[in-house]
Amino acid sequence: MPDMKIVPSVLPADFSKLGQEVEELEQAGVDGIQFDVMDGHFVPNLTFGAATIKSVRANASVPFEAHLMIENPDDYLEEYVDAGCEMIIVHAEACTHLHRTLSKIKDLGAQACVALNPHTPLDHVSNVAGLLDMLLVMTVNPGFGGQRYIELGDKLKQARKLASSLSRPFDIEVDGGINLETISHAASNGANVFISGSTLFKHEGGKADCVAKLRANAEAAFTS
Ligand code: DX5
Repeated sequence: MPDMKIVPSVLPADFSKLGQEVEELEQAGVDGIQFDVMDGHFVPNLTFGAATIKSVRANASVPFEAHLMIENPDDYLEEYVDAGCEMIIVHAEACTHLHRTLSKIKDLGAQACVALNPHTPLDHVSNVAGLLDMLLVMTVNPGFGGQRYIELGDKLKQARKLASSLSRPFDIEVDGGINLETISHAASNGANVFISGSTLFKHEGGKADCVAKLRANAEAAFTS
């Protein structure tokens, strides 16, 4: 059974004290931190760039992943690796030459992940599956936090089947609408990495309690 990983999105964080927020996330026991990079073109929202990520790199030792919800990601890969991101996530829908993009990410020494929007079929990555360290199955339409979870059970099951067919199975991450209930649906269909934004930041018991509960629910529900 793969490790169940809880990875917060910083989208709901107080950006006036992002360094402190990142420190608190690490103290809460998260397995990594995801930075939602949005350019206002690939998605109808604009957030931050590599410089912002670099400014908080020293505030935590957990892996950083850059979720590039941007057009032309090839032009920016190096700066996100230089900013300290161990994992680079590109959208299949934004890459004309996806094999070349993934190969470049790995040549830069980072781990490579492809994100699929809810409407995008899994077979868009079947010919590059051997290059993947992780597959991100979006469970919302990208651009905003706090949206309703979209159930993609069959897509997740097929993704787990594809991962299990490889000598080096990739992780399967879900992002969007993950809470203490929907995490069980995602895990029971094969996901093992869970992005949580609004649930984690709004949890009444605090971040550490939320991380522990999310991880316990995922471990209880996971089915390969
Ligand atoms: C969508 C974003 C969100 C965010 C998580 O583009 O990627 O999915 O990180 O948002 P919540 O957990 O609030 O749904």
